[in-house]
Amino acid sequence: MSDPARLKVSVHSSVGHLDGQKQSIIEGLLCEHAFISPKYFYDSIGSRLFELITMIPEYYPTRTEQGLMASHREAIVTTVGVVDTLIDLGAGNCHKARELFSSIKPKQYLAIDISEDFLEESLAQMREAFPGIQMRAMAADLTQPITMDQDLLTQRKICFYPGSSIGNFDPDHAIRLLRNFRNLVDNSNSLDSDPPLAVNGGLLIGVDLVKDDKVLHAAYNDELGITAAFNRNVLTHVNTLITSDFNLADWGHDAFFNQALSRIEMHVYARRDLVVSWPGGERYFKSGESIHTENSYKYQIEIFKEMLLEAGYSEVKFWTDPQKWFAVFFAQA
Ligand SMILES: C[S@@+](CC[C@H](N)C(=O)[O-])C[C@H]1O[C@@H](n2cnc3c(N)ncnc32)[C@H](O)[C@@H]1O
Repeated sequence: MSDPARLKVSVHSSVGHLDGQKQSIIEGLLCEHAFISPKYFYDSIGSRLFELITMIPEYYPTRTEQGLMASHREAIVTTVGVVDTLIDLGAGNCHKARELFSSIKPKQYLAIDISEDFLEESLAQMREAFPGIQMRAMAADLTQPITMDQDLLTQRKICFYPGSSIGNFDPDHAIRLLRNFRNLVDNSNSLDSDPPLAVNGGLLIGVDLVKDDKVLHAAYNDELGITAAFNRNVLTHVNTLITSDFNLADWGHDAFFNQALSRIEMHVYARRDLVVSWPGGERYFKSGESIHTENSYKYQIEIFKEMLLEAGYSEVKFWTDPQKWFAVFFAQA
């Protein structure tokens, strides 16, 4: 029988100061073209809605990425090599890392996510399922500097960033983030230490590729309206964070492929003229005006490969599914 005390996961939290978050949300709402960062999708409800999205027929990315990783497992595992610590960036329900455990066999698993309560629940399940692997959880914002625990510095670490979350950042920002991830797994700064530290690790990353507009459009406009609920829920989360008075009934979901920028854009739009208020401020929205909530860039393989090289990685390898809808890259730090 499992010991309940062992299942309690201690989550090291550094998600960010609430005042700073409030200020940046309000600044976004007051911009001429209002926006909310997609990281605010993920309160407890948002994390659950995303889990549902991964199950709907129109949302191809999750099953395509999992399918391609299963069919190329041997090559991926050989390329990735020995892993002391697997660092799952934006781990969510940790299912994708879980599928790697039997072949990659990390000694330690570090799950990082901004959605603290959901992360704690996911990690508790992982602890129960894999008692032989040391599990750590860190509630953190990946866009802010992340400090590794000292004991991890001597390990060979692999960053795992599936789900094409890198597509949420515009290409320049994405390159900066890739560089930060490289620093997390780069041991070369301490090579003169005695005993010598483990060799550098790498990054295993899933990337959504350019494809037929119709497939893309359907994936973000599913018949059940789960993506619409996920998108509109950001307003509920913002209400909690800044004490605003968004009324969900006044806001609709919009998602379309912006061909020129090769990205899906998600917006919520005002269904009538209205004012949204929060302590100390307000914003008027005319009917049809939108708040931009997410970009999801779709890449060509060669372009993403160049981005990895620009971020300082080498020996880039990749695998795709037969339709070339999705790619998983491994790059050495
Ligand atoms: C698209 S989901 C992917 C979940 C899972 N890795 C998968 O591939 O199915 C994005 C995940 O990243 C987390 N996330 C989003 N923005 C984040 C940020 N800025 N810092 C840390 N985690 C973030 C979300 O809470 C969510 O679990």
